[in-house]
Amino acid sequence: MKEVINILTGDRPTGKLHIGHYVGSLRERVRIQNEGKYDNLFVMIADSQALTDNAGNPKKVRENVLQVMLDYLSVGLDPNKTIFFVQSHISALNELTMYYMNLVTLPRLLRNPTVKSEIAFRGYDDSSKGVPVGFVNYPISQAADITAFKAKFIPVGEDQLPMIEQTREIVKSFNSTYKEVLVLPEPVVPKNKVCCRLPGIDGNAKMSKSLNNCIYLSDDSQTLKSKIKKMYTDPSHIKISDPGHIEGNIVFTYLDAFCVEEHFKLFLPQYENLNQLKEHYKKGGLGDVTIKNFLFSILDSILTPIRERRKYYENNIEQVYKILYEGSEKAKQFANNTLLEVKQAMGINYFNDNKFLIEQINNLKSNI
Ligand code: TRP
Repeated sequence: MKEVINILTGDRPTGKLHIGHYVGSLRERVRIQNEGKYDNLFVMIADSQALTDNAGNPKKVRENVLQVMLDYLSVGLDPNKTIFFVQSHISALNELTMYYMNLVTLPRLLRNPTVKSEIAFRGYDDSSKGVPVGFVNYPISQAADITAFKAKFIPVGEDQLPMIEQTREIVKSFNSTYKEVLVLPEPVVPKNKVCCRLPGIDGNAKMSKSLNNCIYLSDDSQTLKSKIKKMYTDPSHIKISDPGHIEGNIVFTYLDAFCVEEHFKLFLPQYENLNQLKEHYKKGGLGDVTIKNFLFSILDSILTPIRERRKYYENNIEQVYKILYEGSEKAKQFANNTLLEVKQAMGINYFNDNKFLIEQINNLKSNI
């Protein structure tokens, strides 16, 4: 029998997606989609997960479900090839989470490095605050997302690797405790390391809405230009003739993530490739304005088709919700089937198991 290849990925709808998401995962998803080597490609808007640390602000989550959906469609994810769905529509995910919770210990959850750093980032480690149970539990609910769709490949950013690892442990535990029904997933992360964690325009290691250092997929040309102008380069590179540093120079970090040789032919034909440009900068004689203009041309050429698709969908919001609804209905069917298999494996499918019923009757008879 041919192996079925399902792919699942998703994002929390807590803000618009930025170019860090693009190089970290979205670009890879579009490539996988267009390559077409899969049976089902699911892309999930993780609204239930977003509520684990936004319980008091469902409005923010609700608004961003639409924003993230627009981001997906804008980057070229195609509703004819990809099934989009919203997590809270799929109640089977909550049931699966419930059963998997019995296979994981609390210390194991608290050891998860991503959860650990997120707890600190949100101040949940402050004893007067404490961490919401739903929040520590989200790696288990993520295992439910992944396994419900029998997903083998998970294209995600690097920060999600501990979640996939946790899912793999749950899958192994479930399959050996009950029956082999769950698929062992594998992460897919970009090969180019700079793409895994694109820094903010201020040089901060993380691009984040709260740090106000993001370039959004929806930024217009003018906004992009002024953000690049403000970008952190090399404080010791004062005159053009001064030798410059590449390490920690965010313009070069972004060039490493986005630039291909084709961009030199189009926008900076005096150089053949990025190495040549870097050598010149290091030697001195190359100004920040030149490299910033080059970066602007590249990013603007990448964002232009994205903005155009976004404009189309912004004018067709009803169509966008229809795509999300239809995808969510399809996903629901799929997850319900897996839930049934899981319940069968655990022997808690009381009402569609004739063999069990007959066994019970015979046991009772033999006891008489
Ligand atoms: N945790 C992911 C994020 O923060 C979102 C997510 C939820 C996800 N469930 C998933 C990603 C399943 C991949 C697979 O962006």
